[in-house]
Amino acid sequence: MVNVETELCGIKLRNPTILASGIVGVSGAACMYAAKNGAGAIVPKSIGPVEREGHNNPVLTEFEGGFLNAVGLPNSGVDSSLEEIESAMKNSGVPVFPSIFGGTKEEYGEVAKKISVLNPQMIEVNLSCPNTANDFGTPFALDANEASEVIKIVKENTTAKISAKLGPNVPDIKAIAKAVVEAGADAISAINTMPGMVIDVKTAKPVLHNKQGGISGHALKPIAVNCVYEIYKAVNVPIIGIGGVSTGEDAAEMIMAGATAVGIGTGIYYRGIDVFSKVSYELQKLMDELGYDSIEKMKGAAHK
Ligand SMILES: Cc1cc2nc3c(=O)[nH]c(=O)nc-3n(C[C@H](O)[C@H](O)[C@H](O)COP(=O)(O)O)c2cc1C
Repeated sequence: MVNVETELCGIKLRNPTILASGIVGVSGAACMYAAKNGAGAIVPKSIGPVEREGHNNPVLTEFEGGFLNAVGLPNSGVDSSLEEIESAMKNSGVPVFPSIFGGTKEEYGEVAKKISVLNPQMIEVNLSCPNTANDFGTPFALDANEASEVIKIVKENTTAKISAKLGPNVPDIKAIAKAVVEAGADAISAINTMPGMVIDVKTAKPVLHNKQGGISGHALKPIAVNCVYEIYKAVNVPIIGIGGVSTGEDAAEMIMAGATAVGIGTGIYYRGIDVFSKVSYELQKLMDELGYDSIEKMKGAAHK
């Protein structure tokens, strides 16, 4: 069978599937469970400088094309999360890339410094959570200067590789990608959820307590593929393609657009926690059929 190993900033992954941030929390056990079910790497839920409760219920709803969530980044804060993340790193048997966020640029630096005592190989910098705007103002990923300043500060506070997680709702994602790479990002995670709303017509009220949320799942896939395609043209760093991946064919699309690895979140709701082994197996079969003998050879194929 075809080898589906891949390499992200010098970090070897047994297969290109990565647990996307936020889907199973930060607990060591949950991360281990995803790894046992085939994930090539794990990104735990984003952690910030202090404890945060997140939004009230309902925080998640399904619609015909996907899911809408406004969880609101609940987490116990970096100090209280270190033990769980360390346990995830020790017990998963695959690389674990902590995800961080902050309300200010300085807070990103502070969280990066604290998490770096665990010596992670890579940190994902969540610049793009779309449903905390009321608390934090505009997400940093919407502005090239703001995003690059965050990356510079994170870079000053860690020796880990950094992946900048971008959002889709910008006029020119290439400009944001270029700015964060110039500021020192070693990789790009694309994309976070897309802002959206679902209204219950019987009550004439938005379904989510936060009213607005982020779209994930099937509806996000073509948007994500387009973003990855654009970013691949603009910068020369590895891309983690995230958004609506739940089959081997979805993963192949992302890789052909230019991704080195793929994040899977909502795919767990669609196909169960073993979506990682299912996607890897299907990808392997598809690559065999299409005549690709490595991820590297398939990467960017849609640009040729
Ligand atoms: C319930 C839920 C919680 C999420 N929490 C986070 C988070 O804490 N940090 C983050 O960077 N992305 C978070 N995301 C976004 C996902 O990591 C991913 O970028 C997005 O869902 C698109 O991928 P998917 O279609 O495979 O789910 C969350 C998504 C969902 C559905």
